Amino acid sequence: MTIGEPLAGGPIICVVGARPNYMKMAPIIRAFRAHVPALPILLVHTGQHYDPAMNDTLFADLDLPQPDVNLEVGSASHAVQTAEIMKRFEPVIDQYGARAVLVVGDVNSTIACALVAVKRNVPVIHVEAGLRSGDRKMPEEINRVLTDQISDLLYTTERSALANLTREGIAEDRVAFVGNVMIDSLRASLPKAVPAAELLAANGIDPARIADGYGVVTLHRPSNVDHPESLARIIGALAEIASRLPLVFALHPRTRNNLERFGLLAKLDHPGFIILPPQGYLQMLGLMAGSVMVLTDSGGMQEETTALGIPCLTIRENTERPITVEQGTNTLVGVDPQAILAAADEVLARGGKRGRVPEYWDGKAAERIAAHLSNWLSQRRMN
Ligand code: UD1
Repeated sequence: MTIGEPLAGGPIICVVGARPNYMKMAPIIRAFRAHVPALPILLVHTGQHYDPAMNDTLFADLDLPQPDVNLEVGSASHAVQTAEIMKRFEPVIDQYGARAVLVVGDVNSTIACALVAVKRNVPVIHVEAGLRSGDRKMPEEINRVLTDQISDLLYTTERSALANLTREGIAEDRVAFVGNVMIDSLRASLPKAVPAAELLAANGIDPARIADGYGVVTLHRPSNVDHPESLARIIGALAEIASRLPLVFALHPRTRNNLERFGLLAKLDHPGFIILPPQGYLQMLGLMAGSVMVLTDSGGMQEETTALGIPCLTIRENTERPITVEQGTNTLVGVDPQAILAAADEVLARGGKRGRVPEYWDGKAAERIAAHLSNWLSQRRMN
């Protein structure tokens, strides 16, 4: 299927910066290439994430083409990182005569590039718009609110997002409900997922340790891992759970750095913990798909577990993805150790929430975006 006629003009600049962007962008680029082949695409990586484990492995796993441009900004405070991305992105927009800039998700790279584009009068397209946790202490919430305000075209993953956007004064005709591109990646990659036993063996760990089931843990939100007390309390609760069920814990660099800094690394010495470095996409998918439950503060994993039908205990007080709680397998358990433990016990005793897969989380969201965007671009050209 090829949608619309060939389009003249500069490229759509597609921006990625951090790990959770890659699984959203991969299906979008595939859909553009397949359905709007005349549309030039320029893939820009800001370099917000740069470690091979946070970056290169995922590109390969997702068949994401190598970026055409890498801004190589690296880590810094929010202000410095955002400013540096903006400084380095502006000349790219000018050099390539961008027709539009497409950003995904809610990381610093998302707002930084959207802000540069809108100030150069280049239309901004935001994929995964309208999600709101209501928690303005979360850096991502600020990125979400601001990116949506300056976007010309907003693609949403769940219907509740439109109400959030309308409340913030965003015209409904700029918003299109297309479903969840992250689930496009999940569906495309599931047949290639690496089974947990294989992953453990590859890391020199005896797979017999998880023969009777296991849980998966990830943790990286600043609110959970940037303060010694909160981090110690959460790790304490996880250690209790690890006495009942082995927990495979893929350690994010922020969390590892903080555990070291706070002198808390020894808390991971519990025999029920299986500690791994950050994992590739296919490894993480295999881990989640074979698990009894997932304990996480990640946004994407709340959605992935809902798509997989695996119970998810979200170690946060709020979620910007309410559909995963209302329809999916997600439970918000908060950060109180007793509550985390009680929720895990409940899953162990009764199997946890079953849930159903939300509307349009069907592997075709990126195709819908390609079709919609192609029409939108043609209409703009005619006006
Ligand atoms: C960022 C996103 C967050 C997303 C997460 C996924 C923002 C505001 N936050 O958080 O929404 O869920 O990515 O990982 O954009 N570091 C490395 N190697 C890397 C990257 C980072 O060691 O490749 C370390 C650095 O010490 C850095 C720290 O991790 O300071 C945090 O990285 P940063 O990109 O600032 O935020 P994340 O916590 O990864």
